Amino acid sequence: MNRILVAYASKTGTTKRAAEMLARSLAPDCDLYDLRRGMLQTLSGTETRMPFRSLDLTAYRAIVLGSAMYIGRPVKPFLRILQESASSLTRQPLYLFTCGLATAKEEQSYLWPLLPGEIADHAKELHHFGGELCEKGGFFQRMMRKDYEKKGLALPKLDEVSVQQLSALLQS
Ligand SMILES: Cc1cc2nc3c(=O)[nH]c(=O)nc-3n(C[C@H](O)[C@H](O)[C@H](O)COP(=O)(O)O)c2cc1C
Repeated sequence: MNRILVAYASKTGTTKRAAEMLARSLAPDCDLYDLRRGMLQTLSGTETRMPFRSLDLTAYRAIVLGSAMYIGRPVKPFLRILQESASSLTRQPLYLFTCGLATAKEEQSYLWPLLPGEIADHAKELHHFGGELCEKGGFFQRMMRKDYEKKGLALPKLDEVSVQQLSALLQS
């Protein structure tokens, strides 16, 4: 029961990258789960299709769940899994993280009211890893990138220090 599960919901890849970064820092005792595709993944790249509810969560000493934020909401499967599996997600330490361009405080204020009460009580705090605007992220991401460039602003980047801070917490 030494393993940690890192499950993520990502649309354009940033949250996936953050989850992989976290999982690599916890290797080898870590599994990844893609909430949108319903795939259990290993760091070596193998994938097994499996509904989240079929995972044996008691095999993990901690669970980390993360989502990208879009228009003030997490990606749908993230909330759905929290609602469907609330009771099995509160049997071991649960850590939540978000990726997005808003501040940690703003993400907390958007996300917390949407969480099932028992999850909000159990998870205690939100870790925020910042966000990115991918070139291949579609029309809105490209538009937002152009806006940053027009204003001479540096493009937003994933906050790798915050990822490492959560990793340290999970290893302590
Ligand atoms: C249409 C649109 C809406 C967005 N809304 C939010 C938002 O409400 N809050 C936020 O923090 N970031 C928002 N973002 C930024 C994304 O969360 C950010 O690009 C993130 O890195 C995407 O993660 P993903 O690549 O894992 O999907 C938005 C981006 C787009 C394109």
